[in-house]
Amino acid sequence: MMNDKTLSKETILSLLTMEENEIFDIHIFDCVSSTNDVVKEMAMQNMKEGTVVIAKEQTLGRGRKGRSFYSPANTGLYMSILLRPVFTPQETTLLTPMTAVVVAEALEEICKKQIDIKWINDLLLNGKKICGILTEASIVSDGSGMEYVIIGIGINLSDPQNGFPLELSDIAGSVQINSSEQINQIVALILRKFKLYYLNFNKNDFFEKYKKRLFFLGKEIDIVSNNRVESATAVDINDSFHLIVKMSDGTFRELDSGEISIKPLF
Ligand code: BTN
Repeated sequence: MMNDKTLSKETILSLLTMEENEIFDIHIFDCVSSTNDVVKEMAMQNMKEGTVVIAKEQTLGRGRKGRSFYSPANTGLYMSILLRPVFTPQETTLLTPMTAVVVAEALEEICKKQIDIKWINDLLLNGKKICGILTEASIVSDGSGMEYVIIGIGINLSDPQNGFPLELSDIAGSVQINSSEQINQIVALILRKFKLYYLNFNKNDFFEKYKKRLFFLGKEIDIVSNNRVESATAVDINDSFHLIVKMSDGTFRELDSGEISIKPLF
C-alpha cells in the first residue's frame, strides 16, 4: 500500500527544469470522478495548455469505447493533460500513439522492464495491460482545427490489495511500483518526454519506437468489430498508425480502430 506522501507537486516540480515548471500547471487530487472530466471543465474555463490533473482515485474512470477504467485508490496513477494544439483533427489522432511511446519509455526507465504496446494504445508488461490512454478532443465549429485536446493516462502502479476484479484478473497487471520516489519520478519523466515529443511534433520521432514495441506483428490475431470476430495475421502498421492485416482469404485490410486479440499459441 502506498502512503499519503505518494504524490507531491513540489517533488514533481523539483525533478523538472525551470522551463518545464513554467509549461506545466499541476493539480493533484485525492479523488475525482475522472481526471479527463476535470480537465474538460478547466479547458472550458480557458485554463492554459499544459494544465495537468492527477488523481489517486477515480470514481468514474473512463476508457475507450464507453467502457469504464478501473481506478481504485492509491494503487494507480490517473492523469490528464490539457493541450491546445494547432493541429488538424487528422494530426491530433497521432497524439495517442505518441503518448503510448512517451509512457512506455518513462515506465521502462523507472521499472527497468520491457513495456510493449498493444495496438492501438494499451501498454503491456508481460502480456498484461498496465496502462490505458484515452484522448478526447473538441474540434472548432468549422472543423478545421482543435479547440482543446485532453490526453488521459491511467497506469496500474501496483496490484490492488484484494487483486483486480474477476473480469480483469486475466488481462490486467501492474508495474509494481510502490515507492513515493518512483511515482513522482514517473510523473516528471512522462511530462518531460511529453514536452519533448509534443513541442517538436514530428511523427518520424516516434513511429519506429511505437512499431518496435508492437509485440504481435507476424502473429495470428482475432479482429473484433460490431460483435463479429475474424481471424487474420497482423502484418504491419502504416505511417498513419493503421494496422495492416492479412485476412484468411488472402486479402489485406487496413484497420484504423477497433479491437484485436492475440490468439493463444495452441
Ligand atoms: C482505455 O484503456 O480504454 C483507456 C483508459 C484511460 C484511463 C485514463 S485514467 C486518466 C483519464 N481519466 C479517465 O477517466 N480516463 C483516463
